[in-house]
Amino acid sequence: MQRIEIKDLQKTYSTYADKQITVCGWARTIRDSKNIAFIELNDGAFKSVQIVVEKGKIANYDEIVKQNVGASFCVAGKLILTPTAQQPFEINAENIQLLGESATDYPLQKKRHTIEFLRTMPTIRARGNLFNAVFRIRSVSAFAIHKYFNERNFVYVHTPIITSNDCEGAGDMFQVTTLDLNKVASSGKVDYGKDFFGTKVSLTVSGQLHEECLTHAFGKTYTFGPTFRAEKSNTTRHAAEFWMMEPEICFCDINELMDNEEEMIKYVINYVMKECPDELEFLNKFVDTGLIARLKNIVENKFVRLTYTDAIKMLEKVKDRFTFPVKWGVDLQSEHERYLTEEVYKKPVFLTDYPKDIKAFYMRLNDDGKTVAAVDLLVPGIGELIGGSQREERLDKLLDRIHELNLKEEDYSWYLDTRRYGTNVHSGYGLGFERLVMYLTGISNIRDVELYPRTVGSIQN
Ligand code: 4AD
Repeated sequence: MQRIEIKDLQKTYSTYADKQITVCGWARTIRDSKNIAFIELNDGAFKSVQIVVEKGKIANYDEIVKQNVGASFCVAGKLILTPTAQQPFEINAENIQLLGESATDYPLQKKRHTIEFLRTMPTIRARGNLFNAVFRIRSVSAFAIHKYFNERNFVYVHTPIITSNDCEGAGDMFQVTTLDLNKVASSGKVDYGKDFFGTKVSLTVSGQLHEECLTHAFGKTYTFGPTFRAEKSNTTRHAAEFWMMEPEICFCDINELMDNEEEMIKYVINYVMKECPDELEFLNKFVDTGLIARLKNIVENKFVRLTYTDAIKMLEKVKDRFTFPVKWGVDLQSEHERYLTEEVYKKPVFLTDYPKDIKAFYMRLNDDGKTVAAVDLLVPGIGELIGGSQREERLDKLLDRIHELNLKEEDYSWYLDTRRYGTNVHSGYGLGFERLVMYLTGISNIRDVELYPRTVGSIQN
């Protein structure tokens, strides 16, 4: 008989009342009381199904009930409606096939483990409720992002992972080489001409520059893929490998860009609330009791738009409460961002028009000559979720900036062609996908929204 997935069964169970069905999955619990046993069977759906195993009916009863949690089974039986019980139906087993035993040291037994302990077992942790909810929401929100952009005629482009340019100019890049480092060390110098690509290359920190070239062909594009940063920020919000989603839009200024960001975030939240109610309810109960209220609050309210200069004035008034100094020109620290979003506004804040000296070379210079048309989206509990800007579309101004920052003009000539041939007002942003998942789940550490987190000084498997 064909197997039915438990997620589908949960939607259609009434049509199977008193009918024979087959389900497969792993035992979350096995309770045996001599002549009758109950297996909580999970096949990856957030909710498990209860299997009733009666001794008289199941030939291999003794073998089945002595199995350990984590064992896998294929169960054929009759679906029984149980309207008065906690679960609306259960399966009365008629045949159970043991597919795979589970060793006695299976780590997810009855005891509740700390999230830090679970982090040490990346292979197993997704089999519990917490990571099932988190990684389902990760998947559903990624799909929602694709759906949102697809419905709006954006073209999904795949930008290179290995690159010879540093988009952000911050120098936090992982080098890629096939040179024998022992030989390099003993020779005392690096000859990149002998390296695989014949030049120095790294893993990308952002697909933006490559993408902009494609945006000037399609008008609207987005990339969504892995990004790598070798910054030594050992915080709960930084990973060395993370996913970034970067839309880029021609004929679009900074205000229209903010409209797009706000609409996209609300769309994704609404989609996740619609598709993952059980997961959100669980997270709201066990991880962050304010989660659902916060998500609802976000979709129902307009985001704040505030300039960096006005934000600094507000922060200066309460500067004694911060560890890091606040004055015009400094990069905002997480404590400053959190004050604005969590205490003053209690909602997402677009912070715009930052000093040019703390932002990347490609951002459009404002008329004051001091600030650029940058926009960061700050959200409560996370801080910076999105970084973006209107791009500098004027070739002369962009060249000035490249020279001012001592970047090599020839390294960017391919990129500058976008400004030579049909330049236009255009804008884009990068959303840190793990930070979005943290926001959607209430999880406070980036290591718990990535399956195999890579952070400074730490890599498993
Ligand atoms: O602000 P960032 O550096 O922007 C860019 O890279 C632009 N080129 C994007 C663009 O305009 N197309 O990074 C964008 C976002 C941040 O707002 C943050 O959410 C996330 O990427 N991010 C990180 N997430 C996890 N770990 C890290 N180390 C991150 N660094 C940035």
